[in-house]
Amino acid sequence: MKTFQTIQEVRAFSESEQNKGKTVGFVPTMGALHKGHLDLIRASKEKCDITLASIFVNPTQFNKAEDLEKYPRDVHRDIKLLEDTGCNAVFTPSVNEVYKHGSDVKIELGNITNELEGKFRPGHFNGVALVVSKLFNIVKPNVAFFGQKDIQQFYVIKKLRDALNFPINLEMVPTKREANGLAMSSRNERLEMADRDHASLIYKSLQKAKKELQDGQDLAEVKERLAELFSNSNGLTLEYFEAVNSEDFKPLSRITKGENIVLCLAAEIDNVRLIDNIPLFS
Ligand code: PAJ
Repeated sequence: MKTFQTIQEVRAFSESEQNKGKTVGFVPTMGALHKGHLDLIRASKEKCDITLASIFVNPTQFNKAEDLEKYPRDVHRDIKLLEDTGCNAVFTPSVNEVYKHGSDVKIELGNITNELEGKFRPGHFNGVALVVSKLFNIVKPNVAFFGQKDIQQFYVIKKLRDALNFPINLEMVPTKREANGLAMSSRNERLEMADRDHASLIYKSLQKAKKELQDGQDLAEVKERLAELFSNSNGLTLEYFEAVNSEDFKPLSRITKGENIVLCLAAEIDNVRLIDNIPLFS
């Protein structure tokens, strides 16, 4: 597997592969890789000739300095995992390489960036949009792969792609889960085993709500019961549970069949913030 630290090197690699007629699949990550990330690599390998990953803990998308500082980093382990999964190349730039011209460019993508995650993490999606634009311009992939785990991020990036006319296909890869249903996340590392078990309530309660809504139960009542489950839980604090349309992520007050509705939830346990979601009708 090739490793690149500079924009010049990775761009030359991607261009030369495409000049040979190969398609380049791109998997951006912040490292601390787990099986969910590796599923993205596998999806890219299936669709594209060459798979290129990036590992870059992007400072502009963290709204708390403490979160950025605490973000787990182990590039050597990550590189080994990527290599073992058959990734062809990885880009691991420094902060200065990516932001040598500063970070005062603001990409505003409207309301979708102000709902749910955007509301609880102000500025987060501006930072994601900025770094993903940079990475798209650096790597110029044919296809880019993102996880359903961060479904709002996927639709923010889709809006970014459309608004700025990036000629890149986007693929959403299903959420990889632990045996108990907990969505895999780099943040799970910060949880004790018992808390990881308690946190499985997140997925279980989403499934329960999905079933109840599919049975035609009232959204307000479903939300109330879910909130009660959390208030009786082992240390989980519910931040939000909303049914949203994937167009704009604005919380709905009632369910209309046929819409592209997603159930989204965020909760905290032992100071670790976790998110998850499931589509309502698929
Ligand atoms: P990161 O949190 O490292 O996630 C990288 C990619 O892995 C994202 O597309 C995310 O949705 C996906 N992913 C994470 N957990 C997953 C799981 N359990 N199943 C499937 N996919 C999963 O998301 C980011 O980094 C950053 O915001 C980034 C896009 C790299 C921009 O900095």
